[in-house]
Amino acid sequence: MERALNQMTDQEALEEFNELQLLLWAANREYHTSDTPSISDAEFDTAKRRYLALIDAFPQLEQRATQAQTVGAPVAEGFGKVTHAQRMMSLSNAFDEEDVEGFATSIRNYLGLGAGDPLAFTAEPKIDGLSLSLRYENGELVQAATRGDGEVGENVTANARTIRGLPLKLTGAPELLEVRGEVYMTHDDFEALNRRQTETGQKTFANPRNAAAGSLRQLDASITKSRPLRFFAYGWGAVSEPLADTQSGAINRLAELEFETNPLTRRCENVQDLMNVYNEISEKRAALGYDIDGVVYKVDALSLQARLGFRSTTPRWAIAHKFPAELAWTRLEAIDIQVGRTGALSPVARLAPITVGGVVVSNATLHNEDYIRGLDSRGEEIRGGKDIRVGDWVQVYRAGDVIPKVADVDLSKRPEDAQPFAFPQTCPECGSAAIREEGDAVRRCTGGIICPAQAIEKLKHFVSRKAFDIEGLGAKQVEQFHLDGWIREPADIFALEERYGEGLQQLKNKDGWGETSAANLFAAIREKREIALARLIFALGIRHVGEVGARDLALHYRSWQALEEAVKLARPAALAHRAADEAEEVERQTAQARGRRARISDTRAAVIAECQVPEEATAAWADLIGVDGIGSTLGLSLSDAFDNPDEYAAFARLVAELTVIPPEAPSSESPVAGKTVVFTGTLEKMTRAEAKARAEALGAKVSGSVSKKTDILVAGPGAGSKAKKAADLGIETLDEDGWLTLIGDA
Ligand code: IVH
Repeated sequence: MERALNQMTDQEALEEFNELQLLLWAANREYHTSDTPSISDAEFDTAKRRYLALIDAFPQLEQRATQAQTVGAPVAEGFGKVTHAQRMMSLSNAFDEEDVEGFATSIRNYLGLGAGDPLAFTAEPKIDGLSLSLRYENGELVQAATRGDGEVGENVTANARTIRGLPLKLTGAPELLEVRGEVYMTHDDFEALNRRQTETGQKTFANPRNAAAGSLRQLDASITKSRPLRFFAYGWGAVSEPLADTQSGAINRLAELEFETNPLTRRCENVQDLMNVYNEISEKRAALGYDIDGVVYKVDALSLQARLGFRSTTPRWAIAHKFPAELAWTRLEAIDIQVGRTGALSPVARLAPITVGGVVVSNATLHNEDYIRGLDSRGEEIRGGKDIRVGDWVQVYRAGDVIPKVADVDLSKRPEDAQPFAFPQTCPECGSAAIREEGDAVRRCTGGIICPAQAIEKLKHFVSRKAFDIEGLGAKQVEQFHLDGWIREPADIFALEERYGEGLQQLKNKDGWGETSAANLFAAIREKREIALARLIFALGIRHVGEVGARDLALHYRSWQALEEAVKLARPAALAHRAADEAEEVERQTAQARGRRARISDTRAAVIAECQVPEEATAAWADLIGVDGIGSTLGLSLSDAFDNPDEYAAFARLVAELTVIPPEAPSSESPVAGKTVVFTGTLEKMTRAEAKARAEALGAKVSGSVSKKTDILVAGPGAGSKAKKAADLGIETLDEDGWLTLIGDA
């Protein structure tokens, strides 16, 4: 029974308020992430009414509730989360004609096209704004979402409705149509906006892109309305029926539906045409009246786009040809060394602040000690061999969103007393030796987890968006908790609530923490006790194990225990592999010194034989590095991490706190989901790369070698030992047509 508000003490009101806020936040999160919310809509509404009534009756709660305004908001318009029906992709980049040639060639190779076969493209400006996905159902705009991380974006429907010229109703459109494009602001509108902002004493924007982004992401749609945003349609997401057969046809169709499409879009027959359009657009760039940062090329035939498909975050059928980065000169004031999570010592240039392409730059990466010295990774001279010294005039540039870089040094302005930079030989954070291994461009701290910088960076990585993504526990908080000694390793995060049990109270006095935010943090941590295997593997921050590698490992091993067992089992083979690598290097060097040919394969075989690796280890290692995308470098790094007692113990402590969720079989409807497939011999209807990508898209694992774990062997003409081995093992063998029939592509 609800207490009458006028009979409650302040303390009681605060307690109930906190409880409701937690409940609403949790419900809200669930609403956007799960299909089975723990409370009904009606219960949510009742809780929310009560919550608002409490704030009305106890005005001191108002301030605590400021964050809570977003509680109601997501469910209505504004900043709710939207899971895109189809992922919003980014583009890989080309910087010169050679890259563009490479793009076209790799498409031809992938599709198995001959040099004479036609391959048409579209070319259009790359608008420098922010992408937006508009969902139309039965011709009505029902939802607009920002890109977000590509999978989940923000719901900005109310704001998008205010975009100039954006059709709110379509006639003759497919029942379901997601239109994708770029929101931008023209130069004139941007300048007028900044003038208005100055006049009214509000902050101005650095460039039209920031202004467009800031304007679209306003909680109050009437503010967005007063900001002159525009939209160019360049693509689509989910559709109930195809818009056309070609990219150019589909864009024409969007124009017929009254979307603004870019008038500089052209159809091209070959790379020369693409380069001509690039040059044409470059020349017009300054007079366009809005910012563009390159030209996007897309394969025109949608049937080919479908065959080409996607890599993890970018389509194979499109590329952005970027304009050269803007350059600026400034003084290098200092070189600092940062220590990363894998112990890498990274030199950072501290610059006198300078505007480059509309953004103020005061730091730039200097990569590594060779780079400062004027050498590239192969030991060849860069910048004509000029080194970089504190006090130098340096030329900096920004390429896309990446960290600014140093392009050049002006020796004529070098101060007389400038000294060559002495790269530290010990870790500036923990004093351990910093060592550079043979073949590694990077010097690394050997302190491991005793190095606070490595520990903090590992923790920051652990809580980052693509890893555990714990709400309320970002880089800043992790740093603070580490300083306090509350969190030393990931497992400590999950013990936080228990150890600092009256944690609520303890946190109360800390900067920025109150009872509510602490309770919210604990709730957010609790929520992440259930974690997808791929995220867990990625979160560990093992060198060379990126997001894609982690996903591939998760898909292959399907449980933490299986991964752990396999990596440990493979250890002797991993060591033999490393010994063979080292012997190989020695062989190469001696052979070179004596002027004879190195006999690498003999050396390898001899070393591996000498190591007497048990058969299970050899098989486990072959299985590990045979996983698509997992080479021996990643395999060795993983093996080292599991073999390091401190690191392994930390993994075990962490996993004990968690429920690890195995990856979903990508598409259980597919007849090959979860099966291991090997292709051998000549394929005639598709290239090997395409066959592999197609099989993986259907949830199959593609392996390079036949073993007991193989489910299907697809053997084309000329298949040899693999077909024999499969026959011996009694593995199902199909020819190419049999395979295509099985997967329904015949
Ligand atoms: S196509 C699957 N075309 O560039 C292909 N993108 O770097 C998706 N962009 O997030 C993108 N102009 O926001 C495409 N004409 C254009 C574009 C364009 C700007 C943006 C877009 C995307 C980013 C990728």
